[in-house]
Amino acid sequence: MNNKIIIINGPNLNLLGEREQSQYGTISFNELKENCIKKSKELGLELELSQSNVEGELVNIIQNSRKKFDGIIINAAAFTHTSVAIRDALDIFKKPIIELHISNIYKREEFRKKSLISDIVTGGIFGLGVDGYILAIISMQKLLKNEN
Ligand code: DQA
Repeated sequence: MNNKIIIINGPNLNLLGEREQSQYGTISFNELKENCIKKSKELGLELELSQSNVEGELVNIIQNSRKKFDGIIINAAAFTHTSVAIRDALDIFKKPIIELHISNIYKREEFRKKSLISDIVTGGIFGLGVDGYILAIISMQKLLKNEN
């Protein structure tokens, strides 16, 4: 079955609800996790959700995802704008990838306007708050069922 997905979160997303609430909202990382698990279950997806503040760990998670998962949803956070290593690892994953950002990265500081991964992912969601995670799960299910 084509139904195993992983949501990969980069640095500082573990502090959701605490950090810059005007950008990232008030919901905690744990609450977000519960919501994602609930939505995935409803849609018949098996979800793993991971978070790391360490670039190399994220590369390892992406590499290991090749054999374990059918799709990746990734909020690479600050590494979106800096990490060639994360880009290269994602490029090796030959299945659907959704890039996700809680805030609208094109409406913020100049350095956030460049994503090193946008041109190699299947599609992206940004600026819709933490709802973006739920929307990404719905889109991923469609991608995996070829219904998009
Ligand atoms: C973010 C945007 C990034 O620029 C930032 O470094 C983050 C979160 C977002 O979800 O809006 O940590 O990826």
